[in-house]
Amino acid sequence: MTETRLSQSPDSRSGDSRSGDSRSGDSKRAVPGHVTAPDVSAGKGSGTPLVMVTAYDAPTARIVDGAGVDMILVGDTLAMVVLGYDDTLQVTTQDMAHHVGAVARTKPHALVVGDLPWLSYHVSTDDTVRNAAALVRAGAGAVKLEGGRKRLAAVQAILDAEIPVMGHLGLTPQSVHALGGFRVQGKELEAARVIVDDAIALAEAGCFAIVLECVPDGVARLVTDTIPVPTIGIGAGRHCDGQVLVFHDLLGLEDRMRPKFVRRYAEWATEGTEAVRCFADDVREGRFPSSNETYHAADTFPDELRLTGAATEAEAEEPAPA
Ligand code: KIV
Repeated sequence: MTETRLSQSPDSRSGDSRSGDSRSGDSKRAVPGHVTAPDVSAGKGSGTPLVMVTAYDAPTARIVDGAGVDMILVGDTLAMVVLGYDDTLQVTTQDMAHHVGAVARTKPHALVVGDLPWLSYHVSTDDTVRNAAALVRAGAGAVKLEGGRKRLAAVQAILDAEIPVMGHLGLTPQSVHALGGFRVQGKELEAARVIVDDAIALAEAGCFAIVLECVPDGVARLVTDTIPVPTIGIGAGRHCDGQVLVFHDLLGLEDRMRPKFVRRYAEWATEGTEAVRCFADDVREGRFPSSNETYHAADTFPDELRLTGAATEAEAEEPAPA
């Protein structure tokens, strides 16, 4: 990489850009073709934070990639924000591959990272590699998995199969039951030390980037300053090498949970409900469809159809008037 950034949305760099037009991703891209895991690693220390957003299907991928993000995460948050479950434990490798495929078919410029779901890398090394390969065959350029030193064997096996791995530390939602809920992690000294040591181990093993979720900013800063690969924060403060948000949170489509780290850039759920309400009103009041929204044939058609018998058959089946 010759430039300091993988992609750029200048209007969105200087604070809250909700009202700005930042649809400039396509024209400012520094990486030709598409972003790769090595490009992401090389982005560390560039001075421009990396940007990752989740997407789960073709339209969301087009929106996210059109905005010029560096990475699209097909996250297992799929289970919650798309499929309506209460946690991420309900999706399988097959589910994830289905959605990775939908995202990848849009041929995004951004790196597609496929999230390995719960139990896809916990049982055996063979299964782990096969499951990671399923996401790559569906179109991912890298996979992500949760956990630290406990998962080193899985990380190593996937890397040995030449698949780039992104780590994920702090609040690891697949451990929701073991952690006792979706809680900030690393608030005590010993817990913080575990996160830092896990991050060092994952980076040494060869992870190309590490997500830090819901950890105090001081811990995220220490990890970021310590490891040679980028940290991508979510609820981890501003000192990470990049940031990630869930598409549905960013656009106001998910209402069930609203953690303090989410900044909403739109209110699509509210706007969408209003739009559908307008449609329903238009139908009920006879305003939809208009003539412009209707296919027309010559005015004489109904009469001619009647003459050729098309209508008379139907009429014949009607009971004779009394
Ligand atoms: O699955 C997901 O969307 C994630 C992000 C929250 C980082 O793992």
